[in-house]
Amino acid sequence: MGFFITFEGIEGCGKSTQLGLLKAHLEKKGRPVLSVREPGGTLLGEAVRSVLLSGTEEGVDPWAELFLYEACRAQLVSKVIRPALAAGKVVVSDRFYDSTLAYQGFGRGLDASKIESLNELATGGLVPDVTILVDCPEEVGLHRAWSRINASAGAREDRFEKEALDFHRRVRQGFLEIAKTSARVKVVDGSREISTVHREICDIIEGVAG
Ligand code: TMP
Repeated sequence: MGFFITFEGIEGCGKSTQLGLLKAHLEKKGRPVLSVREPGGTLLGEAVRSVLLSGTEEGVDPWAELFLYEACRAQLVSKVIRPALAAGKVVVSDRFYDSTLAYQGFGRGLDASKIESLNELATGGLVPDVTILVDCPEEVGLHRAWSRINASAGAREDRFEKEALDFHRRVRQGFLEIAKTSARVKVVDGSREISTVHREICDIIEGVAG
C-alpha cells in the first residue's frame, strides 16, 4: 500500500509551495509521488472547482457548497487516490476533508457532526497517514494571497479570498482545533523562511513514514 499525505491551511499559508517541495524531495529519494488538489484533480472536480471559486450571481447556499466539495472528494478518492495508493504510490493532496470542517464548519457555521458524516461517506473512510497543517496568522496569509493576485495580470480574487478577515480567523482557529484533537495532524509555523519550513516537513514525514 502507498502513503497518503495531506496539506492544510488558510489562503496564502504556503501549503502549495511546500507540497511541491516535498514532492520533489520524495521523488529525488526514488518514491513514486502523485500530487492532487481539492477541489479538483478529476474532470468532474476541476469543472466544479471553477463554479465553487467563482460562485454564481444568485450566491451559493452553504449546504450546496458543502455538497459540491463532498462530490468532488468522492470522485477524487474513488477515481484517483485509492487506485494510486493501491499501486504503492505516495499521494500528496493540497487540501482534504479537514478543509471542509474548517471552512464550512468553523467558517460558515454548519454543524460539525453532519460535516463529519458527509466526509466519511465521500471518502469511504479513507484517512490520511499524516496531515501537515501549515499555520500562519490570517493577516499574513491574506496579504500573501492578495499580493499574488496583484502580481499576476488578469487574476481575480476568488470567493474565499473576498471573505472578511474574521472568516479567515475562524477558519484558522478551526484548523488549530482539529490539530489539537488529532495526532495525525502536525502543525508547522508557515510564517518562517520557505526552506526552514520545508526541512521541518521533511523531518516530520521521515519520522512518520520512515
Ligand atoms: P485553494 O485555493 O487552496 O486551492 O482552495 C480552494 C478554496 O476552497 C479555498 O478557499 C478553501 C476552499 N475549500 C473549502 O471551503 N472547503 C473544502 O472542503 C475545500 C477542499 C476547500
